Amino acid sequence: MSEKPWVVTVDGPAGAGKSTLARLLAAKLGYLYLDTGAMYRAVAWAALRRGIGPEDETAVEELLQELKATLTLVPAKDGRCRVKVEGRDVTAQLRSPEVTRAAPLFAQMPQVRKTLTEWQRAWGEKGGVVADGRDMGTQVFPWAQRKFFVTASPHERARRRYRQLRRQGFAVTFDEVLKEVLERDRQDENRELAPLKPAPDAILVDTTGAKVQETVRRMWSYFPRHVPRGVAGGRRP
Ligand code: C5P
Repeated sequence: MSEKPWVVTVDGPAGAGKSTLARLLAAKLGYLYLDTGAMYRAVAWAALRRGIGPEDETAVEELLQELKATLTLVPAKDGRCRVKVEGRDVTAQLRSPEVTRAAPLFAQMPQVRKTLTEWQRAWGEKGGVVADGRDMGTQVFPWAQRKFFVTASPHERARRRYRQLRRQGFAVTFDEVLKEVLERDRQDENRELAPLKPAPDAILVDTTGAKVQETVRRMWSYFPRHVPRGVAGGRRP
């Protein structure tokens, strides 16, 4: 009997390289890449659009109920995770500086964490998932078969974010991005619920000055040769 495909978690601070690494690992394993940051961003994006602030718990609860019916994650051919709300692809809008600033504020809310944790577990239920985020190894999938915690120096992380944002056409300065990255780390590390921290059994991976393929090889060395493979693609909870 073939073994059930695994759940692999990749946690770490903003700009550490999690999504690239998680995506490449997922491709090697034939697993689905689950971008949980995009889920928190989608909540923040939808709230901003309606003018709902994190202090309005009732409105946020209503919004979550609505998103349950209208938000879908669509695995794309390039291995990325696209996000649709009411059938409209909003992935690019989730990367805006406004959404980036708002996401940690909504991510601190117990009801938001509870709902998104349930969605994420539904995606991971059958295994065959590489999930990236902040609390994948500690809270959402504590039973994951492999856990990585990816870091890099704050300057390198800010440099990567800066290049990414400029490429996407956002007019930001390096100093603004560095400030944003440090502030987001502070919020994610110090919140009461599911703070950003490595799981005790996570493998620490520092990507400062490392080439992507080099890091993927290093992470790959922690998998046995006969790791159960999956079949990536349009699977939905
Ligand atoms: O990873 P990304 O930068 O897209 O995440 C956006 C924000 O969503 C993070 O700063 C964090 O506040 C929140 N987040 C979280 N838990 C996760 C993934 C993201 O709290 N598992």
